[in-house]
Amino acid sequence: MNKSLFLSTALLLSSLFTSAQTPRNQLTPRPPMGWMTWNLFQGNINEQLIRETADAMVEGGFRDAGYEYIFIDDLWQGGRDRQNNIIPDPEKFPNGMKALADYVHSKGLKLGIYSDAAQLTCGGWTASLGFEEQDARTFASWGIDYLKYDYCNAPEDSATARHRYRTMANALQNSGRDIVLGICEWGQRQCEEWCEEVGGQLWRTSYDVRDMWKDIVKEGGMGIIDIVNVTAPLAKYVRPGQWPDMDMLVVGLNGTGGPSSDLGGVGCTQTEYQTQMSMWCMMASPLAMTNDLRKVSEDDRRILLNPEIIAINQDVLGKAAERKVMNDNYQIFVRPLADGSHAVALLNTSEKPLTLTADFAVLGISGKYTVRDVWQHKDVARNASKWKGHVMPHETRVFVVKK
Ligand code: GLA
Repeated sequence: MNKSLFLSTALLLSSLFTSAQTPRNQLTPRPPMGWMTWNLFQGNINEQLIRETADAMVEGGFRDAGYEYIFIDDLWQGGRDRQNNIIPDPEKFPNGMKALADYVHSKGLKLGIYSDAAQLTCGGWTASLGFEEQDARTFASWGIDYLKYDYCNAPEDSATARHRYRTMANALQNSGRDIVLGICEWGQRQCEEWCEEVGGQLWRTSYDVRDMWKDIVKEGGMGIIDIVNVTAPLAKYVRPGQWPDMDMLVVGLNGTGGPSSDLGGVGCTQTEYQTQMSMWCMMASPLAMTNDLRKVSEDDRRILLNPEIIAINQDVLGKAAERKVMNDNYQIFVRPLADGSHAVALLNTSEKPLTLTADFAVLGISGKYTVRDVWQHKDVARNASKWKGHVMPHETRVFVVKK
């Protein structure tokens, strides 16, 4: 090979090598897990909070349980500099995002950030429309691993939304770094149908979760059961790399949250929080805690760190639970798992205790099984073709049914 041919081949190979990025549809083989600033802290965020939360994620055992990302939501921005580079609020993040990302990475965690497909974010701060390539390069240079991309202040129609999300996904792809794109258009433009095509990895299914069971004041707040109901019909769109983002876990907020306490968000019972964890795991939603990780009660830890329910969420088959039964009092869901077993959830939506039966053959799982209760952490039946038992109001019982 002559010298110039050798050099150009080497150059080509090295550029191919350095620009080699994970294909976008392989960025999130399992639902992302982590912690998000918004629902408790809203704009009261700064680098100290993020560092302390990173420490708490490690020390509290959350990282080892699978929680990996710290997502900085809206109100981190400080505008643009003279070269139009987006900059963080210097009072909140005096040492800049790169130093913060380095710290988060040093803990074995990843860092997410937030922007919006318009000129202003939902909170009214600097967003990325028209600056997608520049902002994506900036995020990459900071070491950002995930972008939540919102859709406030943008046109209603689906074609524009697709175009704007595709533009940002392409910019992230060109940035030289693997950055996940979380699409946040609240399920208003059937995003589940086009998320993958435009380069996104997850799609919000609902308006913002409020810290409540159900929207009884009819002000447009979404409670836990409301989000279950809007997400259940979307199960067929769920697959590895395409996740239904049911918004943040409100476990541990107890009515003390910022935005999650609006619109009737008075707080939930522990039974209802356990149902949220159960159903978000059954339906393969990303798990984004939003409580104060520096002080988590034992009962919240029991819910958030249950390895058996997390294993269902993270199952590599990547299917969402299908709703097999729905009536005025209860719902039954079945999720197939990679090892051939099934997760079965019985959700009491009524206000009274119920005795429910899960007849496995009727649910499409014929045969005799061992039935494991993932909240009681024990096998409750062997060689069984059904499970029958009590389910308290707003409780979800979850079982793994296996040979
Ligand atoms: C929208 C999103 C929320 C949050 C806020 C921030 O409402 O749906 O999750 O990101 O914007 O302003």
